[in-house]
Amino acid sequence: MRLAGKHIILGITGSIAAYKAAILVRLLVKEGAEVKVVITPYGKEFITPVTLATLSRNTVLCDFFKHDDGSWNSHVELGIWADLMLIAPASANTMAKMAHGICDNLLLTTYLSARCPVMLAPAMDLDMFQHPSTLKNMDILRSFGNIIMEPSSGELASGLHGKGRMEEPENIVQKVVEFLGKNDQEKKKLKGKRILISAGPTHEKIDPVRFIGNASSGKMGIALADTCAEMGAEVHLVLGPVNMIPNNRLVKTYPVVSAQEMYQKCIELFPGCNAAIMAAAVADYTPSETSQEKIKKKEKDLTIRFVRTPDIAAELGKRKAEGQILVGFALETEQEKDNAVKKLSTKNLDFIVLNSLRDAGAGFGADTNKVTIIDRAGKSEDFDLKFKQAVAVDIIEKLLTYF
Ligand code: C5P
Repeated sequence: MRLAGKHIILGITGSIAAYKAAILVRLLVKEGAEVKVVITPYGKEFITPVTLATLSRNTVLCDFFKHDDGSWNSHVELGIWADLMLIAPASANTMAKMAHGICDNLLLTTYLSARCPVMLAPAMDLDMFQHPSTLKNMDILRSFGNIIMEPSSGELASGLHGKGRMEEPENIVQKVVEFLGKNDQEKKKLKGKRILISAGPTHEKIDPVRFIGNASSGKMGIALADTCAEMGAEVHLVLGPVNMIPNNRLVKTYPVVSAQEMYQKCIELFPGCNAAIMAAAVADYTPSETSQEKIKKKEKDLTIRFVRTPDIAAELGKRKAEGQILVGFALETEQEKDNAVKKLSTKNLDFIVLNSLRDAGAGFGADTNKVTIIDRAGKSEDFDLKFKQAVAVDIIEKLLTYF
């Protein structure tokens, strides 16, 4: 029972290999997993829901609505319930739609709302598999972190020989067992650690309707918060005004607006934390006074006096106790490394994550980031351009070396 207690969504698409899904369900259930099958309308042409419902001991889901009583199947709940979404067989059509966010059936909406890892076992004819569009779509899915179990070579349903045969159910189950086992280990890596993360911009009020802010989206800090929570940490996220929230419901989020509010919350939360990652783009200046009324337009130019805000990272650096780890970010446009190294010592950081605005796709607002991590020992490591979720993993791997 190597999958005891695991919740698995098995997605079945329209491919002749769908007949093997019956064996797959049987094997997963035998290993102790609870399996819920979601099938595409074409999938039903290849294998009947009655077979799958009997083997999985659960209703098979295909339609958004039940037409007789008006009830609907919640793909959101299903996506939250699962430890793994396994799509086997995955057709070229479904993979293409997954790669591009198309969600015109229940399997695809479930994929889009799933918070769990996703594994796919493609199955198709060899020419479809080799087509540049299929290869490109699989690359896109890999870049989302989806795991693709390469099909094997052999005789295909078309009578042709080549790559495209779905991986055998026994091998799929073996890979699922190995993956979930590794995933459980990952989840434990930060167990018992409390981590403070600051993220997003701050807004400094000029008057009741105006503020000075910056273009930080909060994506990098939120990706860090989600990843730390997935690895078992207790995460406290002090979040400036952004349009996003963490995916992981276990992240404790404290919304703040100004640098002063962010400062107070971070100072309050820092004692008792094992680490703090300062990913927020905090305003360095705030208006010396906030007008209580909306400032009226006048003939003359307007001058606003700005005063310095507290440096949160530097203050935490002063208060840092033995064993606490402090991580900072640096977004530089010139003499990047020199400036980052200076910040390491002035703010008493343990390591700093440098991103340069010179790199295309890196920095504010983007989904990707290209960073260099520099530590106090002078070690500097350059990473490739990656999605911010993957950058978060690199940063946390570095953090783990301190525990
Ligand atoms: O000095 P600079 O703003 O370039 O430093 C960036 C680092 O310091 C980031 O980790 C940022 O979150 C942190 N910081 C802060 N409070 C400030 C300014 C920056 O925590 N007021």
